[in-house]
Amino acid sequence: MKLKTMLIGLAAAAVISTPAMAVGGLKDAYKDAFVIGAALNSGEIMGNNKLADAIVAKHFNSISPENDLKWENIQPGPERYNFTVPDAYVALGEKNHFYTVGHVLVWHSQTPSWVFEGKNGGPATKEELLARLKDHIFTVVGRYKGKIKSWDVVNEVVGDDGKMRQSPWYKIGGEELFVKAFQWAHEADPAAELTYNDYNIENPNKRAEALAFVKRMKAAGAPITQVGIQGHYTLDVPDLKLLDDTISDFAKLGVKIAITELDIDVLPRPNLGATADVAVHLAEDPKLNPYVHGLPEAVQQKLAERYATVFAICLKHKDVITRVTLWGVTDADTWHNGWPIPNRTAHSLLFDRAGNAKPAVDAIIAVAQH
Ligand code: G3I
Repeated sequence: MKLKTMLIGLAAAAVISTPAMAVGGLKDAYKDAFVIGAALNSGEIMGNNKLADAIVAKHFNSISPENDLKWENIQPGPERYNFTVPDAYVALGEKNHFYTVGHVLVWHSQTPSWVFEGKNGGPATKEELLARLKDHIFTVVGRYKGKIKSWDVVNEVVGDDGKMRQSPWYKIGGEELFVKAFQWAHEADPAAELTYNDYNIENPNKRAEALAFVKRMKAAGAPITQVGIQGHYTLDVPDLKLLDDTISDFAKLGVKIAITELDIDVLPRPNLGATADVAVHLAEDPKLNPYVHGLPEAVQQKLAERYATVFAICLKHKDVITRVTLWGVTDADTWHNGWPIPNRTAHSLLFDRAGNAKPAVDAIIAVAQH
């Protein structure tokens, strides 16, 4: 049977079948395959969301920080680090024996402008930028040595055009900067998994450059151990056969693979395709916000089937997949409520606004039990 037919059959069977046998949570169903993560926002990290706490305790054994370890939050000024929420995040991971993820060291977004400015006006020199990055990596990775198990070192360096993104990091530091970022992260914590993380690399054009980037990094001596496929999907895009191919392609390079930011947007998204570019903003329009009062059953089933297919593919590749992380806990907090159109009612995650598990949860568990 062809793979696509097989996977769709498996996912459909998982959705139609009666609720999965009680096996505890998602993490229990996948305990022999990979860890299951959720990204936490500041409120969830600080213990202000009991609903999310209960869901995380039951279903997840890995956490990612949605925003609090990004440069603008953890080092807002040259001499100013802010560790309050990051320390609480890492403590939460230790207390619960979670596989704790660090996100993110080098990214063009949510990095304050001072990082790229020269001491004498104009852009920073390569030496200035490298010195700032080195200080940042040794301070942050060093502080959580042995506690953060996996770092997103370099994020979203390939553009949607399939070429290297012309970010200030790249324009000033060139690829040498990315190599050094991996090397410094490795020096600061030799045991940590070190990840290049990107979205839409299932797209063959973008994937080609992402594969070439990993090869160049390895050839230049960067201790890259993992590729993160973010997994920001919609109900239709991408064709998930491309996910299957993407995992196989990266595995051939000898790196592990994590699905780092999985969510499935069910809302209409005119002319946008599979981008997760945070710079994209579209205007509000009530017609583009159709599920304010809940998700119709047919859409709910389609969502469950698509989630089940993603997990079936990951299970097939469990020898190289380390983790599948959902980008949020409940729909109340998904970034899709505000992106690419503000003030919408999104339904992208596995738990609804009241914290109820969607049919997708049973469908995903059933995939592991088949
Ligand atoms: O914290 C401020 C708050 O003080 C202020 O009142 C409010 C007004 O807009 O903004 C708040 O900050 C927001 C922040 O999320 C925390 O909620 C920012 O505006 C908003 O832009 C930011 O969005 C985050 C986005 O990254 C920004 O780059 C999303 O939550 C986060 O889910 C998203 O995550 C990224 C990954 O890091 C990388 N891959 C793509 C993924 C989705 O965009």
